[in-house]
Amino acid sequence: MILVIGGAGYIGSHTNKEMSRRGIPTVIYDNLVYGHRESVKWGIFEEGDVADGNRLDEIFDKYPIESVVHFAAYAYVGESVNKPSKYYNNNVCNTIKLLDKMRNHGVHNIVFSSTCATYGKPKQMPITEDMPQNPINPYGASKLMVEHIMEDYHKAYGLNYCCLRYFNAAGADPEGEIGESHSPETHLIPLILDAASGCRESISIFGTDYPTADGTCIRDYIHVTDLADAHIRALKYLQNGGESGCFNLGNGKGESVRHVIDVVKEVTGKDFIVKEEKRRAGDPPILIGSAKKAKAVLGWSPVYGDIKTIVEHAWKWHEDKKY
Ligand SMILES: NC(=O)c1ccc[n+]([C@@H]2O[C@H](COP(=O)([O-])OP(=O)(O)OC[C@H]3O[C@@H](n4cnc5c(N)ncnc54)[C@H](O)[C@@H]3O)[C@@H](O)[C@H]2O)c1
Repeated sequence: MILVIGGAGYIGSHTNKEMSRRGIPTVIYDNLVYGHRESVKWGIFEEGDVADGNRLDEIFDKYPIESVVHFAAYAYVGESVNKPSKYYNNNVCNTIKLLDKMRNHGVHNIVFSSTCATYGKPKQMPITEDMPQNPINPYGASKLMVEHIMEDYHKAYGLNYCCLRYFNAAGADPEGEIGESHSPETHLIPLILDAASGCRESISIFGTDYPTADGTCIRDYIHVTDLADAHIRALKYLQNGGESGCFNLGNGKGESVRHVIDVVKEVTGKDFIVKEEKRRAGDPPILIGSAKKAKAVLGWSPVYGDIKTIVEHAWKWHEDKKY
């Protein structure tokens, strides 16, 4: 049985669905601070906080947990700058508590949600796993700290880990059962879809003078169902004795903000106001991840790599959002 921590959130719920589709039994543990009970349609749901050691003991005692997939974290970059304590406590201290509970209960495998934000502002593209990691905000720093902790726990206690460094998670379940619903929302595609559906007056582009073809920032969007597949591969890899390590998960290609807006207009058939604003501090012009290592070692390859497909799935969910 797999313990999916933070499995009521966006990426966790899609991974849970994919596991269920493949017959892998799951227990979902989430405090619902940001997650949605409605998104947990598969497996067993247990409400609880990672900070609550007694509750974690109960879960490990109650179910035959073989491995953990750990999505639970706070993930608002801007907020992390103003409230670093909140981020280091939840993302780092609570993860240490979880790792110690795993040790106590003899559970040795964990797949952890890391991020491209651990790289900061890399000088070369595409980004490979061996490039320097210099996060520029507490959110990215908190994830890098956990990567280091995993490495130390691996050496000292035999913890086996895969840290998956996602680029921009996007899209929704192709069947439309679950999707992205953050509150507040900060991710580009759902914000543009809000403009397309009239829930927002306009969409803003922050910076049109970057050194890119159309002057707007370029990001690597990776379909959430492709991320889900990578987690299952990483789990199997660890269960088969694979070497612990970190893997980028991206499409290996970038899309500009302006292009994503055009794709949304094409997919939805809606027009809306696009405002051009000044650059935001801390936004690197281009972030593209090389996923060669995940392909070579985990045998992972994105199936929904096309931005139009990603937007179509996101729109299908957005039009008929259930939570
Ligand atoms: N969405 C992205 O593009 C992206 C990119 C890189 C990395 N990540 C990382 O992936 C993970 C999942 O991202 P998401 O977009 O699905 O976020 P999300 O907020 O939708 O999901 C996180 C879930 O964790 C739960 N949670 C948080 N703290 C908890 C705690 N202390 N105890 C129990 N549950 C707790 C929340 O209620 C939520 O359901 C996060 O760790 C995030 O940092 C996300």
